[in-house]
Amino acid sequence: MKDESTPSPITRSKDSGLGVVMFDSLLSHFSGKKEISNVDPVLLKRMRQEFENSEFFGEDMRNLWLMLERIQIKANLDLGNNEDHIDLLNLACGYCEEGAILPAFWGRSGQSVQQFSVDLRDAEIDKAKRRYAATESIFKSVIDPKVVNSSNESSNVEFIADNAVNLSIYGQIPSKFDVVFIRHQNLWHDRPTWQKIYDYALGSLSESGVLIITSYFDREHMLALELIKLLGGNVLVTEKNELSRELDFPGKSIDRHVAAIALNTLN
Ligand SMILES: C[S@@+](CC[C@H](N)C(=O)[O-])C[C@H]1O[C@@H](n2cnc3c(N)ncnc32)[C@H](O)[C@@H]1O
Repeated sequence: MKDESTPSPITRSKDSGLGVVMFDSLLSHFSGKKEISNVDPVLLKRMRQEFENSEFFGEDMRNLWLMLERIQIKANLDLGNNEDHIDLLNLACGYCEEGAILPAFWGRSGQSVQQFSVDLRDAEIDKAKRRYAATESIFKSVIDPKVVNSSNESSNVEFIADNAVNLSIYGQIPSKFDVVFIRHQNLWHDRPTWQKIYDYALGSLSESGVLIITSYFDREHMLALELIKLLGGNVLVTEKNELSRELDFPGKSIDRHVAAIALNTLN
């Protein structure tokens, strides 16, 4: 029988009002940071409630949001406070479950965020684009079309199917980023490729930029941090995710570890 006294991570998230915070941040992202007027208050209230009570983005995205908050505080990252624009790069993003969550998170204090997400596999990027578009259409259904259409700022998210280390060929992509994100790297299976990707990630960081990585399992996380340090990274904080969802494979779980890395200024 299910033990009703043990709160699920989702219940804990609900209690903290996390769903509403995420909803409002996503709404602000999709409105292009415009003041949202003429919103049907009844519809807005209903959507907020539904979002809070549902698993719209599921446990994993809520837990990722909480982990990002935690490491931002622990690493004392002030990207969100001192800049009104954030350039964000998501490398090896796969189908990119976090495609809307990351710009909403980094833009939650009002910053505009431009995000580029890249993966080698066309099919994954195709899914990522469709997933993002589906989310966008849900949120835009509450926003006055005049707010959305008067600006293209809300569509500042691009998905690219290519090698992560080839991005310099795209003229419109910044050469430096405030945040580079790599979720569930695959270092264990292909060290040479991932060495190149980490090297590229570190080389793409602005002076105050941060590389954030997450790992499925303990040993791979440790190896990733060792390699990143060798390549000139300074590990600001690394956290075990206590809410991480276990996978079928023993010892593996979603975003099991999350780390924030800056450039080593002694190099
Ligand atoms: C373990 S999956 C993680 C995917 C996604 N970030 C996630 O958390 O679900 C590793 C991803 O790296 C991508 N990848 C591997 N080598 C790459 C490269 N050189 N450039 C871009 N993506 C690459 C793969 O296509 C795959 O989607």
